[in-house]
Amino acid sequence: MRTQVGIIGAGPAGLLLSHLLHLRGISSVVLEKRSRDYIERRVRAGVLEQGTVDTLVEAGVGERMLREGLPHHGIELRYGGAGHRIPFEKLVPGRAITVYGQQEVVKDLIAARLAAGGDVRFEVEDVEVHSLEPGSDTGPYVTFGGERLDCDVIAGCDGFHGVSRPSIPEDVLTVFEREYPFAWLGILANVTPSSEELIYARTDRGFALHSMRSPSVSRFYLQVPADTRIEDWPDERIWDELRARLENVPGFSLTTGEITEKGVTPMRSFVVEPMQYGRLYLAGDAAHIVPPTGAKGLNLAVADVRVLTEALAAYFSDGSTALLDGYSEACLKRVWRAQHFSWWMTTLLHTFEDEDAYGRRLQLSYLDYVTSSEAAATTLAENYVGLPYGS
Ligand code: FAD
Ligand code: PHB
Repeated sequence: MRTQVGIIGAGPAGLLLSHLLHLRGISSVVLEKRSRDYIERRVRAGVLEQGTVDTLVEAGVGERMLREGLPHHGIELRYGGAGHRIPFEKLVPGRAITVYGQQEVVKDLIAARLAAGGDVRFEVEDVEVHSLEPGSDTGPYVTFGGERLDCDVIAGCDGFHGVSRPSIPEDVLTVFEREYPFAWLGILANVTPSSEELIYARTDRGFALHSMRSPSVSRFYLQVPADTRIEDWPDERIWDELRARLENVPGFSLTTGEITEKGVTPMRSFVVEPMQYGRLYLAGDAAHIVPPTGAKGLNLAVADVRVLTEALAAYFSDGSTALLDGYSEACLKRVWRAQHFSWWMTTLLHTFEDEDAYGRRLQLSYLDYVTSSEAAATTLAENYVGLPYGS
């Protein structure tokens, strides 16, 4: 079997890359370890930056998102018994975010690939990449389930736990990493959102986030210890804790109801440099992870894929490798901005066990600054809605 681009992983990065390449007349095969049903149900991100929305619309896969997605023009920071709105329409005019579940993006992309006759294979086993070394005699190839796929280029879009990144010799890569002493317990519930906009709440009991998926489905997260077992959190305990962390401003009451999904997500900051080796290019979570407080992971994956598409289009049209050679450098500027923003939002809003009283005062002082100074609020807003591409 032969294709131009072998893509490992059918998350947002791999599927969008396959679709964008198809629009440029470039062939690809997507190899995914999980079933289609599994990846279409996997509940993860929910916040799409303006640039992500624009990318999906331009690529012809934004129709349902424009219909069902919820545009938001602000978020609330809640702490010290009061809510403070960060108004995007005033601070970053013309830019907003759209709340639309990652699994809906994945569904839309799979539907588009299959409608166009795209080759997306689910439940493939034992994926391995070969012959990556720069200047190797044979081109790169992928083996899986007894088959072999020869390619001009391989795109490693297989997330943080995939096989692509570990296939690169260790001495070629530099890893930058930070772990956090807590995780997020996330739930999806069949309840009307108790707020029109997202609420990021800092309390002495820990952080809480109120998000949503639709007018009848809410999404919540609680900061919990890193070793938390979901079995220890029956529904009533989750609602009690959410009430304790969110019902602390006058007039706000939380609507509770049926919980349909629960999970614990570890928090990590991680970047590998460079994001490429020979003819293997990493995109999305395969190359970098951010804690979800900044809502950046999916958006960064989309930004990587845009850069990679341009580089591959140039390569397949006239053989020029300049953009491919500069792929990693072109992505990393944005990656590091998102790393900083995600780390900053995380440290601003979470409680840290080893934090002393002085540290807590600093955190509250910074929250006061962000919610009272237009300059500081603009910093948050422009990073949250996402910097324009190319900046
Ligand atoms: P993935 O979505 O991880 O896709 C990788 C794919 O590769 C998977 O389908 C996997 O099954 C497959 N795979 C893995 N190994 C192999 C293998 N060996 N062979 C074949 N296939 C393989 N980001 C935001 O932008 N906004 C948010 O609001 C946000 N909230 C989040 C909330 C939570 C709770 C979590 C966990 C994440 C959140 N993120 C958010 C991050 C976002 O979900 C990820 O950054 C995004 O999924 C990255 O996409 P990806 O395609 O790079 O990787
Ligand atoms: C979500 O709705 O899943 C969500 C929203 C904002 C975040 C992270 C996750 O920062």
